[in-house]
Amino acid sequence: MIRLHVHPDKATAVRAVAADIAALVRARAAEGRRAVLGLATGSTPIPLYAELVRLHREEGLSFRGVTTFNLDEYSGLGPDHDQSYRWFMQRQLFDHVDVVPAETHVPDGLAKDVAGSAAAYEDAIRAAGGIDLQVLGIGRTGHIGFNEPPAGPATRTRQVHLDELTRRDNASFFGDVAKVPHHAVTMGVGTILDCRRVVLLAWGEGKADIVRRSVEDAPSDDCPASWLQRHAACDFVLDAPAAAKLARR
Ligand code: F6R
Repeated sequence: MIRLHVHPDKATAVRAVAADIAALVRARAAEGRRAVLGLATGSTPIPLYAELVRLHREEGLSFRGVTTFNLDEYSGLGPDHDQSYRWFMQRQLFDHVDVVPAETHVPDGLAKDVAGSAAAYEDAIRAAGGIDLQVLGIGRTGHIGFNEPPAGPATRTRQVHLDELTRRDNASFFGDVAKVPHHAVTMGVGTILDCRRVVLLAWGEGKADIVRRSVEDAPSDDCPASWLQRHAACDFVLDAPAAAKLARR
């Protein structure tokens, strides 16, 4: 079931999500257990990471007991490439908080044995006890992680081919669409559905159509995000423009 949370703007929305994450991290610390966070990249979560950094600096939120798993990585880009998702995470979050570097995981975009590395990623998530809360954005193709349509609940971490719409949408980061990789390694829809909580963020009118399809159309591999309707604890946190086409709010 998808619970909808519509905020007037993304600043208000990310404060609510960051407070939720902080409560989880503190509750796990109080229990003496690690909190396991699933993280996303792209433009959507940037203000969320800024707010988490602020909570660390100003309100003493510690990430020492946090383990992280990112959704995806571009194939062919190493951690030192300024468009790799490892680089993104270091600059947006990890370099600014007290997370233990060895407790941060991003799929290996350079792995020679891609299938073996993907299976090891799934094993590492299981060994950590599973993901407590997974942050997601959504692509205009309906992708979550980089699960382009068609993709459904049977999919696990693997290499995928990126849709041309996704490559064009991400071209601004690279400066030129020709530089955007054609492949990525991503957690599967099934991997995401296994997370105990899922929080999908979407901002702006450009996401309104795909948000509506994900929430209101019957779940289908043609819109991988629609499978989140089958998750027991999934929140869509939206700003007003991203929610504008929903029948119910
Ligand atoms: C990123 C990811 C993608 C993005 C999606 C939206 O790790 O998995 O699903 O969340 O492409 O990207 P933005 O936020 O740039 O609109």
